[in-house]
Amino acid sequence: MSRTATAGNSGPARNLVRDVERFAGFGQPSAKATATVAGQRVPVFTNEFWTSKQRAAHSLHEISYRACFKPQLPRFFIERLSQPGEVVFDPFMGRGTTLLEAALLGRTPWGCDLNPLCTALVRPRLTPPTLEAVAARLRAVRFDLEVEQPETLHVFYHPATLWEICALRHYLSARRSDGDFDAVDGWIQMVALNRLTGHSAGFFSVYTLPPNQAVSLDSQRRINSRLKQTPPRREVPRLILAKTASLLSDCTEDQCISLAKAGRSARVLTGDAERAAALAGESVVLAVTSPPFLNVVDYAADNWLRNWFLGLPADAVSSAIHPKLFDWQAKMRRVFDELHRVLRPGGHVAFEVGEVNARRVNLEDAVFPIGLEAGFEPVLLLINRQRFTKTANCWGVTNNAKGTNTNRVVVFRKP
Ligand SMILES: C[S@@+](CC[C@H](N)C(=O)[O-])C[C@H]1O[C@@H](n2cnc3c(N)ncnc32)[C@H](O)[C@@H]1O
Repeated sequence: MSRTATAGNSGPARNLVRDVERFAGFGQPSAKATATVAGQRVPVFTNEFWTSKQRAAHSLHEISYRACFKPQLPRFFIERLSQPGEVVFDPFMGRGTTLLEAALLGRTPWGCDLNPLCTALVRPRLTPPTLEAVAARLRAVRFDLEVEQPETLHVFYHPATLWEICALRHYLSARRSDGDFDAVDGWIQMVALNRLTGHSAGFFSVYTLPPNQAVSLDSQRRINSRLKQTPPRREVPRLILAKTASLLSDCTEDQCISLAKAGRSARVLTGDAERAAALAGESVVLAVTSPPFLNVVDYAADNWLRNWFLGLPADAVSSAIHPKLFDWQAKMRRVFDELHRVLRPGGHVAFEVGEVNARRVNLEDAVFPIGLEAGFEPVLLLINRQRFTKTANCWGVTNNAKGTNTNRVVVFRKP
């Protein structure tokens, strides 16, 4: 690699640099600086590049997941670095923010995640059913059926609510083993997963943490005794239908057609980002992703109750934790090798990293060298600074105290 080169000097990459440099979408010009990475000058742009307003994105995104990014982030790069019909990939897809934005923009959405829960959260929204189909299917479920109930879960649920949850879980499991499980079942399962626990009357549980984090049974007992609360009756089918209506509220006919088309060509994998062997080499035009950040989020602890509903082991994702920077870098190096394999020449990676304040680490410093080692060239570092709104930070930690308080996105190009 030339030591005098300036990054981002070809085709779409050049356009991206120019576009970001001139960006003034929220009234302020971008601030420009330069970083030197292995002898190359890499431009660094800081601005508010996407809105911090709540609910500014499509209603279908409203499925919570720890450390998800705002839909505006993948949209920003998908619009600039891919064309309709091309493949956009997220190797750490989480709730599928990248995949859904890609599908809404007519791209082909591919994704993968180590956590098997993610497939259950992503797939159904790529082929959303109608409200009527969901209502009809809910009428067919025997919510009064007596099935085994884990009594320990009464710490979260009224007995009649737990009865309905267990009847639904049994119904979905039977449909799966009979080979009858279809897109409407998948949708109902996804909404139920999202309604299991939360802090308002829209959830099945008594007041607890937000739905993307399940506390332990002991912690919930302590919450109940501190708040002097007992789980109130919640009607499972009614809440599933209400959340379905809200998720579908922005769906236009055109979008349903675009989603159905994208859904047919979607690839949604459960597996390790460093081995996406099911994906052909040189097939992806753009990867937009956000990896697990050191050990900031414990996905296994957060998801034990959702995994129970799906019949999965509670520790399905414990191997995702890499608390030491050295180990994290080694892991990401292997992921970059795999990204290099699946990307077309001229394709891009937009890799969102956190600013892990407690450790005083800017992860882009760790990412630039490993991207270069894997054979990519750096295009730019984009720093999105936004004024915080109540839910602008979905890490579940105090804003500006811990976790990530800006989006820092390293963009690479495969030569
Ligand atoms: C920061 S979250 C991504 C969230 C996503 N951008 C969204 O909007 O929902 C990181 C994700 O990486 C997943 N993960 C951790 N290690 C992984 C690995 N080795 N391969 C694939 N996914 C992994 C976690 O399960 C988690 O869903």
